[in-house]
Amino acid sequence: MTVTYDFTGYRAVVTGGASGIGLAAAERLAASSAQVVLWDSNSTLASEQADLLGDGVAWQQVDITDEASVAAATQTSCADGPVQILVNSAGIGGSGQATWECDVATWRRMIEVNLIGQFLVCRALCEQMMATGWGRIINIASVAGKEGNTNASSYSASKAGLIGLTKSLGKELIGSGVLANCICPAVIETPMIQQVTVEQLDYMTAKIPMGRIGTAEEVAALVAWLASPDCSFSTGAVYDISGGRATY
Ligand SMILES: NC(=O)c1ccc[n+]([C@@H]2O[C@H](COP(=O)([O-])OP(=O)(O)OC[C@H]3O[C@@H](n4cnc5c(N)ncnc54)[C@H](O)[C@@H]3O)[C@@H](O)[C@H]2O)c1
Repeated sequence: MTVTYDFTGYRAVVTGGASGIGLAAAERLAASSAQVVLWDSNSTLASEQADLLGDGVAWQQVDITDEASVAAATQTSCADGPVQILVNSAGIGGSGQATWECDVATWRRMIEVNLIGQFLVCRALCEQMMATGWGRIINIASVAGKEGNTNASSYSASKAGLIGLTKSLGKELIGSGVLANCICPAVIETPMIQQVTVEQLDYMTAKIPMGRIGTAEEVAALVAWLASPDCSFSTGAVYDISGGRATY
């Protein structure tokens, strides 16, 4: 049984909404009557997926690492009313190299997209959520940020940073009506896993006690609850969805 929330009248921004976890979250929110805007750098995919999702789903081309792009998208998305739900899913995958083999530009790019980009989006949308007195921010981090995956130091560091950002933001927003939480998935079946080597995928899957990788729909179910008024006593929290991998 799929739980349906009533998000009628709610407006949601989903970064990375053209693919994978973001797309599944967008679909789940739209199925519960939210108005959803996909923010994604891949305009072709975003436009195709918004069309497939149908009425109530729009898209914007946004590079979350570009402050001006995020500001312009915020202005457009908030033109018809405030955005109450942010699902921050845009991100890039790991390099598959040992730390001493990584070049600085690749390392910096990972931090730029997975941490600074997510910071820019949180910053752009949280003030108008505070002004209306209600909001839900859900950042998609990773179990790699808690444990550190082998041959993925830039990715793991970016996600550890995102966990820290969410914990600080959650505390800063106390009393505003806006909650900020993050999710730490283990391996999830999405196009992103094509960015990692077969060895890395096997290593990560072997760490999951349930013996399988997760689905984007399973993550979307957690997103939907975190976006809903049913989530009312959690903020700055880290939610695992890892088939039993996470140990703390
Ligand atoms: N798939 C997994 O195994 C897994 C596990 C843990 C965490 N995550 C995290 O979940 C999130 C979603 O991953 P996914 O698996 O759905 O990946 P995905 O590759 O399917 O989707 C990522 C989306 O982000 C978009 N994007 C990338 N850079 C962007 C930028 N600068 N600006 C705007 N959009 C940008 C891409 O175009 C793409 O549509 C990521 O943050 C990822 O790190 C994924």
